[in-house]
Amino acid sequence: MKLGLLTSGGDCPGLNAAIRAVVRTANNRFGYETVGIRNGWKGLHDGDIIPLPPKSVAGILARGGTILGTSRFNPVHDADTLAHCLENIALHRLDGIIVIGGDGSLSAAYELSKHGAKIIGVPKTIDNDIAGTDATFGFYTAVQTVTNAIDSLHATAESHHRIMIIETMGRNSGWIAVTAGITGGADLILVPERPFNWEKVCRQLVTRHETKRFSIVVVAEGAKPEDGDIVTMGDLDNFGRPRFGGIGYVVAREIEQRTGISTRVTVLGHVQRSGTPVAEDRLLATTMGVTAVEAASNGQFGNFIALRNGRYETVSLWEMKGKTRFVDDRMYDIAEIFFG
Ligand code: F6P
Repeated sequence: MKLGLLTSGGDCPGLNAAIRAVVRTANNRFGYETVGIRNGWKGLHDGDIIPLPPKSVAGILARGGTILGTSRFNPVHDADTLAHCLENIALHRLDGIIVIGGDGSLSAAYELSKHGAKIIGVPKTIDNDIAGTDATFGFYTAVQTVTNAIDSLHATAESHHRIMIIETMGRNSGWIAVTAGITGGADLILVPERPFNWEKVCRQLVTRHETKRFSIVVVAEGAKPEDGDIVTMGDLDNFGRPRFGGIGYVVAREIEQRTGISTRVTVLGHVQRSGTPVAEDRLLATTMGVTAVEAASNGQFGNFIALRNGRYETVSLWEMKGKTRFVDDRMYDIAEIFFG
C-alpha cells in the first residue's frame, strides 16, 4: 500500500509526533510506502509530494510545528480544485491518505471521501473542539502555556493591584480558557458558550477588589457580551470562517471605564500553538497516528480516529462534519466555584 500523509489547518504541538507515528507504523509494522504531501491540501492540489521514509522522521518527536508544512487551503472550494486533488491522488497512485487536521480540514476530507478518495482523519487542534472525540492533541500544550502565563501574571497583578485580562485562542469554544482558567486559578472566565453581562462582571470584580485587590480574568477570543457581538479581525479564512482576536481589549476598556480599576491586557496569540509538545500531546498524537495506519490496513477509510471514554475508535467523518464540541456545563461549574 502507498499511503500519503498531510497536515492541514493551523499547526499545533504534536503534529510531528503524529507524522513520526504514521511513518514508523506504516513502514516498520506493515511494510507500506509513505509519501508526504506538503503544505496541507495545497500540496495535493499542486502535486507537491515527496518521499517520506522512516529516516525522514528521526528526531522530530519533541519538535513543535510540522515538518510537512501546513496551510488553510480548501480542497473542495470549487469543482476545479476538487478535480485537481482527485487527479493527483490517481496520478501518484495513493491507495490512501492520512489527513491530520482540525474541523475545517476533516470536513473537507469527508467531502473528498464522497468523491471516492480513501481518507482516514486524525483530529488535531489546540481548540479541542472537534465533535465526536473527547480530546485532540495540541490542546494540552496550549493549556500548559496559558497556565504558565497566568502564573507569571499573578505577580504584576498583585503588585499593581490591577485586573489582568488574558485573551486565549479557541474560536467558538472555550476549552482552553476554562481549562487553563481552572489550572491557573482565574478569578473570572469568559467563554463563547456563555455570553456575559457587563454589570455582573464588573460587580464581581469590584466586590473582589474590596478584599483581594487584584484579579485574573481569562477571556476566550470568541467570548461576547449578551448585548454585543463577537470581535473579529474583519476577514475570513479559506473555509469562510472569521478570524478572531481583540475581545480582550474591549473587555479591558469597558471594565476600566465602569469600575475605575486599572486594567491591562495580554493577548497570548500564536505562542499557544507553538513550542514543544507536552507528554500528554505526544502520547495522544502517537497513539492516534498508530491507530490511523491500523485503520488503513483494515480498509476503514472515510473515518477519523476518536478517543472516546478512554478507547481509540474509528468514527465516520460524517459525524464531525460541520459540528463544534462545546465546553460542557460541568466543566464551567467547576471553574465557577473559584470565581470572586
Ligand atoms: O483553530 C486553531 C486556531 O489557533 C484558533 O484557536 C484561532 O482562532 C485560529 O486557529 C487562528 O488561525 P490563524 O493562525 O490562521 O490566524
